[in-house]
Amino acid sequence: MECEIKLKTLMMTITKEMEQAFEQAGYDKKLAKVTLSNRPDLCEYQCNGAMAGAKLYKKAPIMIANDVVGQLKENPYFDSIEAVNPGFINISLAAQPLADYLNELGQDSNLGLETAENPKTIMVDYGGPNVAKPLHVGHLRSAIIGESVKRIARKMGHQVIGDIHLGDWGYQMGLIITELKKRQPELPYFDESFAGEYPAEAPFTIGELEEIYPTASAYAKEDEEYRKEALHATYLLQNGHKGYTAVWKHIMQVSVTDLKKNYANLNVDFDLWKGEADAQKYIPDMVERLKREGYAHLDDGALVVDVREETDAKEVPPCMILKSDGAALYDTTDLATLVEREEQYQPDEVIYVVDKRQELHFVQVFRCAKKTGIVKPETSLKFLGFGTMNGKDGKPFKTREGGVMRLENLIREIDEEMLKKITDNRTISEEEAEATAKVVGLAAIKYGDLSNQASKDYVFDVDRFTSFEGNTGPYILYTIVRIKSILNKYQETGNSIEGLRMHAAGNDSEKALMLEAVKYNEVIATAFEEIAPHKICAYIYDLANAFNKFYHETKILAEEDEEKRKSYVALLITTKDILESCIDMLGFGAPERM
Ligand code: ARG
Repeated sequence: MECEIKLKTLMMTITKEMEQAFEQAGYDKKLAKVTLSNRPDLCEYQCNGAMAGAKLYKKAPIMIANDVVGQLKENPYFDSIEAVNPGFINISLAAQPLADYLNELGQDSNLGLETAENPKTIMVDYGGPNVAKPLHVGHLRSAIIGESVKRIARKMGHQVIGDIHLGDWGYQMGLIITELKKRQPELPYFDESFAGEYPAEAPFTIGELEEIYPTASAYAKEDEEYRKEALHATYLLQNGHKGYTAVWKHIMQVSVTDLKKNYANLNVDFDLWKGEADAQKYIPDMVERLKREGYAHLDDGALVVDVREETDAKEVPPCMILKSDGAALYDTTDLATLVEREEQYQPDEVIYVVDKRQELHFVQVFRCAKKTGIVKPETSLKFLGFGTMNGKDGKPFKTREGGVMRLENLIREIDEEMLKKITDNRTISEEEAEATAKVVGLAAIKYGDLSNQASKDYVFDVDRFTSFEGNTGPYILYTIVRIKSILNKYQETGNSIEGLRMHAAGNDSEKALMLEAVKYNEVIATAFEEIAPHKICAYIYDLANAFNKFYHETKILAEEDEEKRKSYVALLITTKDILESCIDMLGFGAPERM
């Protein structure tokens, strides 16, 4: 028989009880808003409706609070409910409904999460690496945050499409072509008579490509002739030069293969591997329309769309559609990408996870897209700008030598540190230790990043992030592994973990753990609404702490009363399920042991 979840969140249940009490006492039930307590030392939940009602009913708030509380004295949902000066209502839940609620949650395949009734199509634009350049730490945040945003939205029941939006169409391509032509002039691609047939095998490896690009870039900075040549090569490529197009395809193939491997190591995966190049074919029609419909005008030879608004405190420059030489720009590409997205996916929402220093660009693009009807008025365009990842010196993260840190090296550094910590403490095979270090290392990096509000800068601190104690990824995993090991022990003695039910909590730390567990629903809903993965981190840290306190204060498997023991095990299972679901939304998993 299916368990029927009557009320998805416990908060809704309490609110309903409170609404009835307000009505019975003769007040508007709209006042009955219940929130988590901001004084957890005094109570678990609170209602400030009496304060809000004072004006309406011309009464002292404490009188209203007393009237309401009077209605709830015998209510089975509450353990204690008190009106306190000047008019707050402090609420502590009874242990039984907590257990009832968690039993329902535990039976539901989605842990009682209230998913969208009308799922939206949400596109997440993240990653944004530039082809032919190695991934460096600057790319880490977009990948980590974007992946989590995508998973949270998916968990909430929406149709979510993650798009990497490669930087694959600029001057860097002209630079590579120019340098390649110097080094390997015998390749057929530089010959005017090149007919378009070419082998699958590229004439360079990823290692060579990564060397060619910075070399060419340095030449172009010193040598004006070289720069002109690269610009011309870019122009020819963008205008369909057959040989250069073949080189471009080689670059893409080699580069994307490497990127896929690197993102897979980060447990990041994109539904679409589109890029700036894909948007190019939408540009001519879009530009034509903007001109024809009078949105775009010439300004100093450039084609622009005004996007100023009266309320702007700061000057917002116009959106640049074409340079005076007719070349497309970053604004153009992002607008054309929206044209493409509108045509192919009709998203209700597009979320851009990009460095916050690009905010102005997105303000311009969003306004232009709305004003010119590239997207529908109701389409929501959101910019999730993230801050910089700094080193311990407070400056943008660098290698010890002061260079740009490659992502691979950063991951290796963390994995090595993790391996040391794992093998310091226990004896497991080298192979298992290495595999575990990778899993825990990834959690260290991702949690270290995601536990900060995205828009803030943060300090990447290898020692702190890899610690098993404190607000870290490894601590969360350690807690999950601890629960798994208790459950394994329980099963090893022939017990089944199926169909166990929780009883009302018998002590404070058990109740405290239950009170954390029941917040799951609201936390995920809020993290989705506010696009705030850090709220999930804060929650699982509290949940892990509550579990560990319970664990230290309770004999779990040694409990003699069988019913109690089973109830503990049921609570453990639900705690583990919630923790695992949360870390999955953060984009990492837990090992079996560590
Ligand atoms: N490739 C860009 C960069 O490196 C980031 C792309 C962000 N996404 C976008 N739709 N513009 O700065």
